[in-house]
Amino acid sequence: MDPGDLVLRGGRVFDPAAARPVDQAGDVRIAHGRIVEIGRGLVGGRILDVRDLWVVPGLIDLHVHLREPGHEYKEDIESGTRAAAAGGFTAICCMPNTRPVNHQRTVTELIVRRAREVGAVRVRPIGAITAGLEGKALADIGDMKEGGIVAVSDDGRPVMNAGLMRRALEYARTFDLPVVQHAEDLDLAEGGAMNEGAVATRIGIKGQPACAESAMVARDLEIVEWTGARYHVAHVSTARTVALVREAKRRGLPVTCEVTPHHLALSDEACAHYDTRTKVMPPLRTAADQEALLEGLGDGTIDCIATDHAPHSPVEKDVEFECAAPGMLGLETALPIILDFVRMGSLDERRAIAALTGAPARAFGLSGGGLAVGAVADVCVIDPERPVTISADELSSKSKNTPFLGQTLAGRAVLTLVEGRCVYDLDGRTR
Ligand code: DOR
Repeated sequence: MDPGDLVLRGGRVFDPAAARPVDQAGDVRIAHGRIVEIGRGLVGGRILDVRDLWVVPGLIDLHVHLREPGHEYKEDIESGTRAAAAGGFTAICCMPNTRPVNHQRTVTELIVRRAREVGAVRVRPIGAITAGLEGKALADIGDMKEGGIVAVSDDGRPVMNAGLMRRALEYARTFDLPVVQHAEDLDLAEGGAMNEGAVATRIGIKGQPACAESAMVARDLEIVEWTGARYHVAHVSTARTVALVREAKRRGLPVTCEVTPHHLALSDEACAHYDTRTKVMPPLRTAADQEALLEGLGDGTIDCIATDHAPHSPVEKDVEFECAAPGMLGLETALPIILDFVRMGSLDERRAIAALTGAPARAFGLSGGGLAVGAVADVCVIDPERPVTISADELSSKSKNTPFLGQTLAGRAVLTLVEGRCVYDLDGRTR
């Protein structure tokens, strides 16, 4: 539904990632899909009282698995974008590990077209680095760029071959596309199903060491230095990776990275009861890693928060831990989890919002992520205190694989606007 002209009145207008950061009590007036005025006592169209609420740029998620085409029983573009809207996201990037793989322009165009037809929020596809995600030959990167991809990644799998990674970086550079690495050295990982350490030993599950991630990042950074190409580390999970990225940024390399809410919030202790919903790749790590991730997010070493929303059905999850597919939902739990860190005082609220809005936009060179007058009105209204109980009935996602089911958290999106159009309205106030 299009509420037409709208004034969000009396909220905390909050755009910490802007060149001139905004943080003021005031009104936001939206007309014809754009922000036309920010100030006090604004009038025009419909007035929505948003006192005690935050008005922030629509959240942007660089890492989502929408599963369409090919695995629509887990999620599709319609359900996945509805989940995104409910989570406060107005733009999401979708990973190419679909069936067929998004390694050709025809698949990219299919996703773009379907998203236009049924998507509640903006969908920006990520193309594969290698054909079929097989790690053998480069995919049609230039052609996919014409079709609308915003980055390339073999996510779910690493690019193991260093020579091919070099060529991917060089080739992607000519199209100004970031290369997103799922950093997992498979020889070091040896198929481990969780983090290698005390918990894995105690419960008798084969683990994979933290260095499976950091060794690959260290290798890649050498190639990045050689090629000068843009490199983005997906779902950073270890303290050592944070240190490597910090050092690389200090040296001025074109490196960005993301962390997931689940790697911040959970450690490998969560796997102790063989709950397959806690199985993710990279695996949940140790408390020391969590601390380093939080510190890296706080000081900007980690640019942004991305969900790695990875829907799976009971067919993939109701099996032994070792056999289960890795991944958990993220779109509808991200904001409550992150706001919990803010409430505990362990993450600055400005940094949290920046990492969900302007920072991801900058990392991939996407439009949006800001609240300036004249900007397209992609907006999220957050109630930072509103309780939310994560329940299977209320999740918009087709899948329910999250270990947060049954938990009550505080803080959530209550209204999401894409180009001024309401795509999520918890309390039905724009109706
Ligand atoms: O946990 C994960 N699930 N990690 C990945 O890299 C892939 C994803 C998936 O596609 O399910």
